[in-house]
Amino acid sequence: MADSPQNGLLIEAFDVQLFRDSAESVLAKLEKHLADLSIRGLELADPTQLTRSARALMTTEHTKPAAFDGARLAEIVDLYIGTGIQVHSPGYMGRQFSGVVPLSGVIDFVSSVVNQPSSFYEAGQLPNVVERIMADELNEFIGFEPGTFSMITTSGGSLANLTALLTARNKAFPQVWARGGAELAGPARPAVAVGADVHYSVARAAGVLGIGEDCVVRLPLDAARRIDTSRIRPALDEARRQGLAVFCLVASAGTTSVGAFDPLDELAAVARERGLWLHVDGAHGAGLLVSDELRHKLRGIDQVDSLAWDAHKMMFVPAPCTLLFYRDRESTRGTFRQTASYVFDEQPTLYTAFDSGDKNFECTKRPMIMPLWVTWAMYGKALFAEKIEYLCRLTKEAYALLEEQEDFETPHFPEANIICFRYRPDWLDEEDLADFQVNIRNRVKERGMFFISKVDIDGVAALRVVMMNHQVTIEHFRMLLDEIRKAGQPQ
Ligand SMILES: Cc1ncc(COP(=O)(O)O)c(C=O)c1O
Repeated sequence: MADSPQNGLLIEAFDVQLFRDSAESVLAKLEKHLADLSIRGLELADPTQLTRSARALMTTEHTKPAAFDGARLAEIVDLYIGTGIQVHSPGYMGRQFSGVVPLSGVIDFVSSVVNQPSSFYEAGQLPNVVERIMADELNEFIGFEPGTFSMITTSGGSLANLTALLTARNKAFPQVWARGGAELAGPARPAVAVGADVHYSVARAAGVLGIGEDCVVRLPLDAARRIDTSRIRPALDEARRQGLAVFCLVASAGTTSVGAFDPLDELAAVARERGLWLHVDGAHGAGLLVSDELRHKLRGIDQVDSLAWDAHKMMFVPAPCTLLFYRDRESTRGTFRQTASYVFDEQPTLYTAFDSGDKNFECTKRPMIMPLWVTWAMYGKALFAEKIEYLCRLTKEAYALLEEQEDFETPHFPEANIICFRYRPDWLDEEDLADFQVNIRNRVKERGMFFISKVDIDGVAALRVVMMNHQVTIEHFRMLLDEIRKAGQPQ
């Protein structure tokens, strides 16, 4: 019989008083971190140096569990916080993940301690029930027929896009799941049609699914960088002539580059007419649905087949938390066509009917719904709507400010909270325009006050600001423009 370790350092690692003490000391650090609203971007660390610092914090004891060292834990947490993008700072304007609602972080901490993976009801009872509740709550804004739609959570928008495309592919080509891609070889090759600015995860999904990146038909955009519905039918006809069997249309509700919203109602009409699955990548912009002011950007969402919605973007909870909605819940049964006696019961019970393991890719899945649900349960929809509305208003103000500047240009009008622009002082040679933007982005980052990103628009680099932080005001944006002018001075 094995001796159970009654004392010693193994026991200490699980000691509840130690748990409490260490949690309290970390909490004090996080409180200080959240309270610091100084303007900071990212201190980019040399990865070799950072590796050295991290290694220096590892125990050299290998024969028995090392004794707890509170000072070392403090150093690790300081290093973790200090080397991150300072998402709570007004200097953060660069990416689509946000500073989280603090309460959602508290619940994520609870999830990590109670460890209830959520693909199966028995492993995560509350998370599975709550997924259904959140699905109903959010469907109020989508408008699918109650009782006939479904929602699963997935680890990120990329996986949600892949999962939805898989459902669509299995519906159009039911034989492929079992018999593989060779069966596809025929007169026409399966293809998906997307807006030219679609997120790269969609083309990646086409690669993963064996559709092939070459069979991604890029639909032309209009001046606002939305799919141009006047040119979509000719483009689909041309794809057919080229030997492509388009089975799925992917629209974006908030493109990554400029935050453009494709016209869903018009695309739904095309999809119906041509018998196509319509998937909406709303990873960035589906959050606008909760706002009475902004919901119209997604007009037609009730007619789509599937919708990916990243709550870790515009719902301000810890990553990952993605919701994948299907208009017809029956279609989700066709995504993963498997049997596995240890998890999927052939005869569902009251309990197993709540499992999602047969509909999502993950087996062990983070109970990612919990931070979203608790935040929603505690504060209600208005918290999200107010923040989103502020961010979109602020972005429009930023646009107006840019329009007043002689030395900046804005290639698009912001529909949501993303705005791209170029710094163009009169002394700049036209041929240097693109490189200049990249250099400015790098210099702004290095100077450490602001964190912004860049994106190519029509092949020319532009600076990109994503307003995710309600602590940012128009004055901060004005400061950013000054910072850009300084960074752009000839060196
Ligand atoms: C429009 C869009 N789709 C998909 C994704 C990918 O989502 P995730 O990072 O959650 O995998 C992003 C992320 O930036 C996005 O902007």
